[in-house]
Amino acid sequence: MADIDHMDQPFEIRPGTGDDLFMIAGVLVDTWRSAFRGLLADGFLDGLSREEQAVRHARRMGEPGVSYLVATEPSVGDVIGFANFGPARARLPAHIHELYALYVRAEYQGAGIGRALVRSMAVHCAGQGATSLFAWVLAGNPNRGFYERLGAKAVETGRIGLGDQSYEQVAYLWDDIAALARTTGGPS
Ligand SMILES: CC(C)(COP(=O)(O)OP(=O)(O)OC[C@H]1O[C@@H](n2cnc3c(N)ncnc32)[C@H](O)[C@@H]1OP(=O)(O)O)[C@@H](O)C(=O)NCCC(=O)NCCS
Repeated sequence: MADIDHMDQPFEIRPGTGDDLFMIAGVLVDTWRSAFRGLLADGFLDGLSREEQAVRHARRMGEPGVSYLVATEPSVGDVIGFANFGPARARLPAHIHELYALYVRAEYQGAGIGRALVRSMAVHCAGQGATSLFAWVLAGNPNRGFYERLGAKAVETGRIGLGDQSYEQVAYLWDDIAALARTTGGPS
């Protein structure tokens, strides 16, 4: 699975900036196509545009309280994964934060990058006063086990429209961010 043997040193995690937007968009489009083929409509996946995603994330990056973390491949500095999070999009108490997006390139999956991104995010959110964190995950996503492995609990179901289709989704909650930061390795 993981293709990190060629790296001189492990991946790095750092805050994402506007300079990363095009690479973030590339990770998103490529990962959606590889992870969700057969789950989401082919037309929707084929129609994803890196340029449109870069614009969408530039807008999101400018929203109050929204943060990005990127995982980079140290030898060339390419973004190989990212997490995007901030205040809950639904009207919820301010101490409940939301993970909006978490993607690791297929060839780097299974190497601890997702776990490291969640760990850094938990530390960051706790520093901003958040006490809990949740993420909406497609009900058919084969990676739901990742959230369960990291201690999140399925607490709610809902629906999401993507293209002209509607899909079931599940909210996974970490109800103790401090514990999440601790169990995944402590502050970074
Ligand atoms: C889900 C994703 C972010 C996980 O990142 P990753 O770097 O591959 O995961 P890690 O290597 O950090 O795994 C951390 C732990 O979760 C476990 N895990 C990872 N994926 C899993 C899965 N699909 N099912 C069950 N457990 C899983 C790992 O075995 C590991 O456990 P361990 O440390 O006890 O061995 C990544 O695989 C990905 O981007 N997938 C495609 C897109 C996606 O589904 N994103 C989430 C959208 S909501």
